[in-house]
Amino acid sequence: MPKVLLCPPDYFDVIDQKNPYMSRKSPVDRVKARTQWDALCSVLQQNGCDIETIDPVEGLEDMVFAANQIFVGAKDGYGKFVVPSRMVYESRRREVPFFVDWCRERDYQVIDLNLGDEFLEGHGDLLWHPDASCIFAGHGFRSTPGGVEKFSDAMSRMGIPVVALQLVDPYCYHLDTCLRPLNHEAALIFAGAFATESLAALHRSWKRIHLLSADEAHNFLGNGIVVNGSYIASGMTPQLEAILRQEGLTPVLVDTSEFKKAGGSCFCMVTILP
Ligand code: ARG
Repeated sequence: MPKVLLCPPDYFDVIDQKNPYMSRKSPVDRVKARTQWDALCSVLQQNGCDIETIDPVEGLEDMVFAANQIFVGAKDGYGKFVVPSRMVYESRRREVPFFVDWCRERDYQVIDLNLGDEFLEGHGDLLWHPDASCIFAGHGFRSTPGGVEKFSDAMSRMGIPVVALQLVDPYCYHLDTCLRPLNHEAALIFAGAFATESLAALHRSWKRIHLLSADEAHNFLGNGIVVNGSYIASGMTPQLEAILRQEGLTPVLVDTSEFKKAGGSCFCMVTILP
C-alpha cells in the first residue's frame, strides 16, 4: 500500500509573493481549502493510499505543501533515508525541522548535505524515476545548481545517478510543475519550461515524452499524482485525457483552486513515502 505524507491546511494563507501565482488580491478561503484538502485525502485513500499526517504549525502558512521540505527514498544497503531541504524563503525554511524530526522518529537515516548558502527544495525539484534508476533534479528558480550538485554527489555515493535539469519558465518554478513521470517508460513534460540541453536530456531519458501545452502546465495539469492506475489532478483537457488513456491511466479530478492561489496543486501537497 503506498504511503503518503500530508499536512493539514489549518494555517494555510497567502502572505507574500513567493512565486508568480501568489497575490494578496485573491485571499484564501480557509474553509474551502480544508474541504479541497479533505477531498484530496479521500481520493488518495480510495486509490489505496495509506495517509500519514504531520501537525501543522501556526505561522507556517505554506506547510500544507508537503512536497518541499524533504526528499525521501530507500536504497538497498542504506534503508530509508531523508535529505533535508534548505528553502529559499525564510518562513518555509522553518518548516524543514518538523519534517526531518517526523522522519527521524520513524527511523529514517538523515543525510545532511551541509548546503551552506545553496538551496534545495525537496520533491518540488527532485523527482524519482518510477523504476528508481535515477532522480531528476530541477534548478534555476528555487533549488540552485550548487544545491543540486551537492545532492548529486551524495546520491552518487549511494549509486543513484541524478539528471540535472535547468528550468527557465518562472511559472514552472519547481520541477514538479513541468515534469510528471507516468510509468517506467513515459513522462509528461512542458517543453517551454526547460533549457535546450535539459530538454535533450529528458528525451534521452524516456521512451515516450508527451507534451503539455503552456496553458495546461500553468494550470498545474502536470502536477498530478500517479497512483493505482489513476492520475489525480486538478483539471483535465481532451488532449491530456488522450495521453493518459494511451498510458493506461484514468483521470481523477480534485479541485485545488485555493492552493493554486499559492502556486501549488495536488503533487505539491504530498510526499510519497518509501
Ligand atoms: N507557496 C509555495 C511556495 O512558493 C508553493 C509550493 C508549491 N510546491 C511545489 N511542490 N511546487 O513555496
